[in-house]
Amino acid sequence: MNEKDVYENCVYKKNGSINIAKLKIRKLRWNIRASEMSRNTLNPIREIVDGMKLSPNPDKPMIALSIGDPTVFRNLPTDERVLQAMKDAIDSQQYNGYAPSVGYLQSREAVANFYSCPESPLEAKDVILTSGCSQAIELAISVLCNKENNILVPCPGFSLYKTLADSLGIQVKLYNLQPEQSWEINLQHLESLIDEKTTCLIVNNPSNPCGSVYSKDHLLQILSVASRHCIPILADEIYGDMVFPGCSFYSLGSLSGDVPILSCGGLAKRWLVPGWRMGWIIIHDRNQAFGTEIREGLVKLSQRILGACTIVQGALVDILNNTPDEFYCSTNNFLKVGIEIENFPEFKNDVDFTERLVTEQSVFCLPAMAFEYPNFFRIVVTVPEEVMVEACRRIQEFCQQHYRPCSPDGNDLDQ
Ligand SMILES: Cc1ncc(COP(=O)(O)O)c(C=O)c1O
Repeated sequence: MNEKDVYENCVYKKNGSINIAKLKIRKLRWNIRASEMSRNTLNPIREIVDGMKLSPNPDKPMIALSIGDPTVFRNLPTDERVLQAMKDAIDSQQYNGYAPSVGYLQSREAVANFYSCPESPLEAKDVILTSGCSQAIELAISVLCNKENNILVPCPGFSLYKTLADSLGIQVKLYNLQPEQSWEINLQHLESLIDEKTTCLIVNNPSNPCGSVYSKDHLLQILSVASRHCIPILADEIYGDMVFPGCSFYSLGSLSGDVPILSCGGLAKRWLVPGWRMGWIIIHDRNQAFGTEIREGLVKLSQRILGACTIVQGALVDILNNTPDEFYCSTNNFLKVGIEIENFPEFKNDVDFTERLVTEQSVFCLPAMAFEYPNFFRIVVTVPEEVMVEACRRIQEFCQQHYRPCSPDGNDLDQ
């Protein structure tokens, strides 16, 4: 259908006269292929959710515990001062132009001051502003890895790491987290995966989807593995400091001696404004293991497409300096949690389980297949309290109806 004929004029002699004929020489057709990179880019959450057959129970209003966006239910607004900082930034008309590719100096200085600690002092030159934490992760992976390299990624883990690595042709090696040990890393397994082509270890703490927060000891053990094998760490700390009262969050940068760290963070979670797309990379490199090359590489990568929105950059100084402590405390009960699906022999897998949960109870949870962890599902607890209570009641009813505890050898004890 898209073919086109291509003609060429042909001159020939016939009966003593010169003639010109149009000769069809070849067919041209539209043959536009999507690039290999685009074909290799896959968001498992979208693929799984779009492929699910969801028909909610018409007698029960739908409750979606699948959406990792704290703003959708409007019960977790950001702080008034955060909003005012944005209004002021717009009104000032100072932030309508292009900023330096790594971000305004004063905005980077504000991030450096906010996260600086005596063990790991930071300056503006250690900060690169990006479009959300996602771009920070992309730049960090891109600067550390070539096509033939591999990266170590937590399982279960946030799906973006694999999405980005796959599209860049970088091999992903999944290391196990241990549910029975508060989702700590299986360090033996992690170490067994390392080879001469490993160029990056991704550590996500606090974790999406596990909601776990690593102890100082565990973080030191992780650093010790990285140090032994001279592997830099990409620390996804977007949920940094979002811990329940009585718990402590330690950033890897504050604990590291010799291991260089690219810490990725942003405003999305702690300040509850994911749509503002403000992220950053903080470079912790006490022993100059990164040298100048990685810093220059990050600057070069930031020049491909300018990252963070200038208005948000303009507001950043105020946001970081003036958000009151009470705001941080009041939002710390929003973390993502995973629930294991066991002993439900009726269901083939987590997708089957969650589809039936929608059909019968109109509660939608995200199958953890999206996190490379089948037989679990993930819920977010950002919904208003009364909706959460209702969702839990319905999940409980569903479980009571379908639960069939199995013995370790797989026999159904109920029968
Ligand atoms: C662990 C983790 N890292 C990074 C991101 C991406 O953050 P942003 O929305 O700032 O790109 C998310 C978003 O949900 C996340 O859960």
